Amino acid sequence: MEADPPARGRRRPVGWWRRKSLRFRLTAVASAVLAVALAVSAWVMVGVLGRSLISAIDDSIYQRARETVSLSDAERLPDELTSPDGTLLQVIDGAGRITHATTGTDRLVPLLDARERARAIQKGQARFLDGQPYGIPHVLRVRVLSADRNRTVIAARPFSEVQASITTTGHVLLVGTPLLLVLLAGASWVIIGRTLRPIASLRRGAEEITDTARSRRLPVPEARDEVHSLAVTLNDMLARLEKADARQRALVSDAAHELRSPLASIRLQLEVALGHPEGQDWRETAEGVLEDTMRLARLAEDLLALARLDERGGALARREPVELDQLVPQTTERYGEAVTVKVGHDPIVVTGDALDLGRVLVNLVDNALRHTVAPVVVELRAAGADAVLTVTDDGPGIPEADRERVFDRFTRLDSARSRDDGGAGLGLAIVRETVHAHGGAVHLEDASPGLRAVVRLPLS
Ligand SMILES: Nc1ncnc2c1ncn2[C@@H]1O[C@H](COP(=O)(O)OP(=O)(O)O)[C@@H](O)[C@H]1O
Ligand SMILES: [Mg+2]
Repeated sequence: MEADPPARGRRRPVGWWRRKSLRFRLTAVASAVLAVALAVSAWVMVGVLGRSLISAIDDSIYQRARETVSLSDAERLPDELTSPDGTLLQVIDGAGRITHATTGTDRLVPLLDARERARAIQKGQARFLDGQPYGIPHVLRVRVLSADRNRTVIAARPFSEVQASITTTGHVLLVGTPLLLVLLAGASWVIIGRTLRPIASLRRGAEEITDTARSRRLPVPEARDEVHSLAVTLNDMLARLEKADARQRALVSDAAHELRSPLASIRLQLEVALGHPEGQDWRETAEGVLEDTMRLARLAEDLLALARLDERGGALARREPVELDQLVPQTTERYGEAVTVKVGHDPIVVTGDALDLGRVLVNLVDNALRHTVAPVVVELRAAGADAVLTVTDDGPGIPEADRERVFDRFTRLDSARSRDDGGAGLGLAIVRETVHAHGGAVHLEDASPGLRAVVRLPLS
């Protein structure tokens, strides 16, 4: 695109225009439209004014001419014609001589010659006439009427008054219109600036967030307008981002915390063993280190599982039919006598990821086994549109108040008692998030004695 000079040349004015501020562009467009509108209305105004003034003159000279015709027809014309409004009158007889005229009017030369008089009578309209040849320094408006006995009456009036008022009006408009335009453009500039001010303050707010990271909300304007809703929406977004950010930070710090103790334990065991190599039971040391390593591995595994769930944002990696009635016995096989499985004969199929669902069951059974005395009971049945999987133990259970909380990440209730065989408190979080991704639900309930975990998954 850059290599094409003509195209670039054509784009340049548009680019210049786009680079101008919104305030400038809006003001410029509004002013341009106003300028055209004002110019057109000024033009129309002068035109209408001129026309109405001319028609007023025409009416009055027609009146004078008519009166004169009446007097002439009645043979009552005075020697000196008079007219109160300064209309020039000439009465011409059939031979072309001026028989009567107003004072000061040429008595020898008619304003119009015979041919022109005839044409003017035929037209029946007033016309312009240059007064100069007759010693009148103005343009005249002239009307001709015919009277009895072959007479003609000419009435004329200088056009100069009309011309003067049109010129004056024109001058006023010529000065006034640009002045008005400048005023209106200034007003637009101010009003548009005011309208855009909340946007500028939004921008400043965003800048502050970037600069200081202290204020985390944009200023919301008081007016309930579009900018208001924009600010509210942006603030909602900021709140969500902040929450996600906080969650991420907490996860990192919790994970680091969880990593610390097994690592410290490994380090201590190795330091002790190396510090006193004589009489050291290396096998015991290796077993201790291995146990801590297993904890680390489990933690890494759980974190990875959660990271994958987060990454997918509640969607499944795989969606395939999973035969739970097959999966449940297969998964619990390795626990042997410690787990009793109750599965009916009918196939129970859900849609999702078999690996993920297997991990859900393992997490629940591991938890139950840690607390139970009698064998853990795993039961699968269909209930309405759902597959219901329960894992029941006869351990101490979880107090009602904590049954939701334990689903949070890194929540451990029995940390002091059985920390070594427990995990980092991620097991139930993984269970819940996986089940939700499958469109299902999970909760804990009292099995008196013990605890029952209930997983509901929609049947496919
Ligand atoms: N079957 C159960 N009986 C009693 N308490 C349980 C049971 N299952 C889970 N819990 C409690 O819930 C907490 C969270 O469980 P979980 O998320 O699996 O973490 P973890 O197993 O790593 O400790 C456990 O620390 C435990 O205190
Ligand atoms: Mg667990």
